[in-house]
Amino acid sequence: MSADSYQTALKRSAAIEQEVLEFPGRFRVLTGDRPTGKLHIGHYFGTLQNRVRLQDLGVALFVLIADYQVITDRDVSNDVSRNVPEIVLDYLAAGVDPNVSSIFTHSAIPELNQLVLPFLSLVTVGELERNPTVKDEIRLSNRPAVSGMMFTYPVHQAADILFMHANLVPVGKDQLPHLEVARTVARRFNERYSPGDPYFPMPEALLSKSPGLLGTDGRKMSKSLNNAICISSSPDETSALIRKTVTDAEREITYDPSTRPAVANLLTLAGLCQDRTPDDIAREIGSKGAGELKRVATESVNEYFAPIRARRRELEKDPEAVRKALRNGNEKAREIAAATLSRVQDLMGMRYY
Ligand code: TRP
Repeated sequence: MSADSYQTALKRSAAIEQEVLEFPGRFRVLTGDRPTGKLHIGHYFGTLQNRVRLQDLGVALFVLIADYQVITDRDVSNDVSRNVPEIVLDYLAAGVDPNVSSIFTHSAIPELNQLVLPFLSLVTVGELERNPTVKDEIRLSNRPAVSGMMFTYPVHQAADILFMHANLVPVGKDQLPHLEVARTVARRFNERYSPGDPYFPMPEALLSKSPGLLGTDGRKMSKSLNNAICISSSPDETSALIRKTVTDAEREITYDPSTRPAVANLLTLAGLCQDRTPDDIAREIGSKGAGELKRVATESVNEYFAPIRARRRELEKDPEAVRKALRNGNEKAREIAAATLSRVQDLMGMRYY
């Protein structure tokens, strides 16, 4: 994406943020995660915390565990049955309230999949091939052949958003091309099948402020790289991960992401947990060196996440509550999807009885 269009998206997103604060009741949010592992604190500060904030503001919140999307860049979905309940636990522990918001999975909503066929007819192969996020994923997956799913999952994702008439999608920059697909599908469907009376609303992006958190080894935080502090990690695991961080020998702690990325990352981490700026934390540590920085970062994470982790441990003892949250969310989402599919078939002239 060009820097220009990103700037435009940022401006638009800031305006929408204002509207959300004034009129939360106008918004229905859909956002989601691929269930490829437990959620880590990068997920938490990048998006989960914001979802809970939106929910608490009074916005209608739907959270999708995108299980079908797991097989875009890998062959099999074998870990999904273990990962889905873990992620539900992460959501609930972080404050998603299943009595107010809905958590659901792709696989429980067959009507959602049925929307994908007509939606595919609304986009061209050229458009699918040009999607920059898909291109990146193909490059990163390092595989000799690319599946049809890889090119078409953004249309499936458009169905995620449109089936429930979500008008707000909190996402990171990498998801903007997918949101553009959803808008294109909505616009073309409206033009072809409900001219003059648009059936699908235009979803808008709410861009998450990237916290810029890296893994403890300086690479992207990722469960598979073994550099991620999970929401569910214990204080000792957190401490061990942070201890592994390779910093530098300079005793004076300063926040300089370009020349001292590892130090900057720990400062960012402590800052997010203490709701202070990294510079502020750096000044406090001063010349006490990397050991003290690690101590502060560890303590900040463990303190911030203590109540969330305690709630998670309580919930782990109650698997029925987890299943129930998902069952209720699935039921609600499925009702909405069935109503949308039926209306879509009406508009397409496909109801014969
Ligand atoms: N593609 C998103 C990711 O990889 C997950 C996702 C699936 C999603 N469907 C969505 C995000 C709908 C927002 C809206 O993280």
